[in-house]
Amino acid sequence: HGTSKINAKGHLEIGGVDTTDLAKEFGTPLYIVDEALVRQRASEYVEAFKASGLKFQVAYASKAFSVMAMCAIAEQEGLSLDVVSDGELYTALQAGFPVERIHFHGNNKTPDEINMALEAGIGCFVVDNFVELHLLNALAAEKGLTVKILLRITPGVEAHTHDYISTGQQDSKFGFDLANGAAKKAIQEAIALANLEVLGVHSHIGSQIFEVDGFRMAVDKVSQFAVEIRKDLGLTFQVINLGGGFGIRYVEGDTPLPIAQYVGAITDAIISNFTAAEFPLPEIWVEPGRSMVGDAGTTLYTIGTAKEIPGVRKYIAVDGGMTDNPRPALYQSEYEAILANRANEANEETVTVAGKACESGDKLIIDLELPKANIGDLLAVFCTGAYNYAMASNYNRIRRPAVVFVKDGQADLAVQRESLDNIVANDVIPARLRKAEL
Ligand code: LLP
Repeated sequence: HGTSKINAKGHLEIGGVDTTDLAKEFGTPLYIVDEALVRQRASEYVEAFKASGLKFQVAYASKAFSVMAMCAIAEQEGLSLDVVSDGELYTALQAGFPVERIHFHGNNKTPDEINMALEAGIGCFVVDNFVELHLLNALAAEKGLTVKILLRITPGVEAHTHDYISTGQQDSKFGFDLANGAAKKAIQEAIALANLEVLGVHSHIGSQIFEVDGFRMAVDKVSQFAVEIRKDLGLTFQVINLGGGFGIRYVEGDTPLPIAQYVGAITDAIISNFTAAEFPLPEIWVEPGRSMVGDAGTTLYTIGTAKEIPGVRKYIAVDGGMTDNPRPALYQSEYEAILANRANEANEETVTVAGKACESGDKLIIDLELPKANIGDLLAVFCTGAYNYAMASNYNRIRRPAVVFVKDGQADLAVQRESLDNIVANDVIPARLRKAEL
C-alpha cells in the first residue's frame, strides 16, 4: 500500500527508497514514514469535508505521532492540530504551526500549561471538567483574555472496532456526562463566565473503529443536546467536534472503511438533524490521529539472534521491541512484517519476533510466517506510524530510534537517533554521592 513496493532487487522500497539503503545510511531500528501517504490521508479528509459543503476543521491528533516535521506537513495540508500537553504544544509552536489552528485537550491541564497556551494565543480549549472550566476562566481573566472553548461531553456511546454500545451513563475519566445533566450544567456555568466563549461541544467515542453507527449515534445525541441547549439556555452551537477514532488495517481481518465514508456518515447525520430542527448548520471538526499516520509508518529492524526450542517455537530477536512499539505488550496488538532484504522470497517457517528488552512479554509478533531468516536480515514491521514513536520509552536505557521521511526517492531525517549522551543528559549525581576528587 502507499508507495511501498518490492523493487527489482527483491528489496522493500518505500517512497522510492530501497529500505536496505536506509538501514545502511541511518541504522536500525528505524521508523520510516511514507510522506506521500500521510499527505494522501490528509487530503482524503479535507476533500470529503469539502464535498459535504459544511464548514470544517480537520485537526490532526498529534498524540499519535508528534514531531516537528509532522506538524509542518499538517500545516501544509491545511489541517488543524490537537495537542494534549505542553510538550505537544511546544512541538507545534517550535514547528511554527499557526497557533489559532491549535486545539488544547486533556483532562488535567495544569495551570502552567493553561498559561502557556493562553500566552501563545491558542485557537480553542476543549474543556474537560468543572475544575478546569473555572481555572481557565480565572487565568484568562488575569490576562484580560476571552478564550474560545468547546465542552467535552460524554455522550454515552462507546465504540470498539466492531462493537459499539449505547449506555445511559458512562464511566469515563473524560468529559461532562450528558445523561446525568453535568453537560448542561457545564454549559450553563460556562455561559456565565465572562472570559470564556462557548463555541460548542466535543465528543470522542473511541479508537480503531470500523463502523459508522457509533458516530451516527453520537451525532444524534449531540444534535438532541444542541436543541435542548438552544431552547433552554439560548445558546446556539457554532461548532461540533466529533473527535477521532477512525480505524486502519493492521492485519488481515481488520476492515476499516474509506475515510470518505466515515466523514460522509458524520456530515450527512449532522445535515439531516440540524435541517430537521431548523437550526443553522454548525461547523464540524474531527480529530483523526491513527488514520492520518498509522499505515504510513514502517519500522525496520535488524535480526540479531535466534533461538529454536524444538517442537515448541522459534524466536528471532530484533534490535528494538517494546521500547519502540509497546502496543503488542500493552494491547496484544497484531502486526504484519516481512524480510525487507528478501521481500519476494516464499515463506518457509513460523517464528515469534522477540524484542531486546529484559522482559518476557517483549514480543512484537507471535507466529509470523517468514522465509528462513538469517542473522543480519532486515525485518520490516508495517503500520507503525501511530502510537509507536509517540509511546516509545527508554526502558533498559535503550535509545529511541531515528525517524526518516521518504518521498520521491529521497530520505530525510525527521528525528535523530538518540545518543548515549542523550540517555544520561538529565541525570545528576548529587554532590554527596560523587567520588572524592583527588
Ligand atoms: N481525540 C481525542 C479526544 C482522543 O482521545 C483521541 C485518541 C483522538 C482524538 C485520536 O484518536 P484516533 O483517531 O487516533 O483513534 N494508544 C492507543 C490509542 C489511544 C487513543 C487515545 N485517544 C493505541 O495505541 O491504540
